Amino acid sequence: MTIDNCKFEGQKVIVRVDFNVPLNENGVITDDTRIRGALPTLKKVLADGGALIIMSHMGKPKGKVNPKLSLGQIKDAVAKALGVAEVKFAPDCAKAADAAAALQPGEVLLLENLRFYPEEEGKPVGVEKGTPEYDEAKKAMKESQKKFAKTLASYADCYIMDAFGTAHRKHASTAVIADYFDADHKMLGYLMEKEVQAVDNVLSNIKRPFVAIMGGSKVSSKIGIIENLLGKVDKLILCGGMTYTFSKAHGGEIGQSIVELDKLDVALEVEKKAKENGVELVLADDCVCCTDYDFKNFAVKEGAKIEVYPANAIPAEFEGLDAGPESSKKFAAAIDGAKTILWNGPAGCFECDAFTDGSKAIGEAIAKATAEGAFSLIGGGDSVACCTKFGLTDKVSYISTGGGALLEAIEGKVLPGVAAIKG
Ligand code: 3PG
Repeated sequence: MTIDNCKFEGQKVIVRVDFNVPLNENGVITDDTRIRGALPTLKKVLADGGALIIMSHMGKPKGKVNPKLSLGQIKDAVAKALGVAEVKFAPDCAKAADAAAALQPGEVLLLENLRFYPEEEGKPVGVEKGTPEYDEAKKAMKESQKKFAKTLASYADCYIMDAFGTAHRKHASTAVIADYFDADHKMLGYLMEKEVQAVDNVLSNIKRPFVAIMGGSKVSSKIGIIENLLGKVDKLILCGGMTYTFSKAHGGEIGQSIVELDKLDVALEVEKKAKENGVELVLADDCVCCTDYDFKNFAVKEGAKIEVYPANAIPAEFEGLDAGPESSKKFAAAIDGAKTILWNGPAGCFECDAFTDGSKAIGEAIAKATAEGAFSLIGGGDSVACCTKFGLTDKVSYISTGGGALLEAIEGKVLPGVAAIKG
C-alpha cells in the first residue's frame, strides 16, 4: 500500500513523525526542517477528510517525564505549519483513547513525547546490563513494548511511518506498532519515500563519477559507512577531525589536534582498501590551526594565534581546526565534474567564522556540480547546518532529515522502520 493509493476519508490515521526539533532556552523551535518535511503526508490525510493523530519523540528523556522535552511546546507551531486553527494535545500518550475517539475529520491530535514511556525504546530500566536480572527484565520489557504499541495502534484505522530520522530505531512507534495493522492499513509517508529514493540514488542508481565527502571528528563513528562507500565511490574525500588520525598513522606531527590513537591501523587499512578498489582517497595536505579555541562557545580565545600548517607538521601548541587553503582547492577540484555526490560531516569547526573555509569550499563545489547536473545528497545535522549557513540549501539536490538513520541506510543496513512496513 502506498500513501497515494489511499483515500483517508472518514479514517483516523496515526502518523509517526520525527519532530525531534531543536528548541532554544524558551522552548522556541530553532530549525523546523523536520516539521516541514512531514507536512505533505499530514496535509494529504487532512485533505482526504481523515483525522490525524501525530506521534513523535523529542530528545532522550530515557523513559521519564521531562517537561523540557514536552511536545506540548511545539503544538502551536505544528498547527501553524499545518494551517489549522488548533492542534489538540494528549498529555499522556498511553491514555489518549478518548481524545482519539472524539476526533472528527479534519482534526489533529498530537500525542505527548513517546519516550516519556520506557516501553517506546523497549530498554529495561534500573537493571544493569550483563546481569541475569537484565535478561529477565529485557524479556518483560519486550512484552510491555508490544502492549504499548498495541495501545497506540488502537487509536487509529491506519498507520503511516514518516519518521525517517528515527527509522533506524526498532521502537514501539517506529516498527512494533506495524504488527497491529494489516498490509492495506500501513504505509510509508511521502518523506520516507523521498528519503529512501535519495539513498537509492547514491547506492544503486549511481551516475559516475561518484564523489563522497565524509567529515566529522572520528574515524570510528564513520568506519561502517566508509567501508561500504569504498566499494561504490570513485573518489572519497575524508576531512574534519579524521584528518589528524590519518596524518598520525603516517608518523605526522599533529600538535594538539583531535586524534584516535587506537584507530591508526584502521586509517591505514582504509588507505589500503581504497587503493585495492581503485578509489581516489583525498585527504587534507594543510590545515588552519589555532592555539586556543573555545569549543563550547565556538570562539577563538583572546590572544590565540591562527596559522596554516602542513597536516603532518603542526607545531605542538597548535590544533588543526579546518582544512587549509590548498586542501580546500583540492577538495573543490575533486568534486568538480561529479555526477553523484554524498556529503556527511563538515571539514572543520564551521560554527566559528575563522574555520569555515574548508566546509564552504566543499558546499560551493557541490552546488556547482549540482547546477551542472549532479545528484547531491546532504545529510547529518552539521553538513545541513553548513548548507544553511552558506545559503546553499536550494542549490543541492536533497537534504536529508536523517542523521544516524541516513548513515545506517548508506551503510547498507535495513532500517527497521522501513522493514516493518515493507517486510
Ligand atoms: C535524530 O535526531 O537523529 C533522531 O530524531 C533520532 O534520535 P535518537 O538518536 O535519539 O534516536
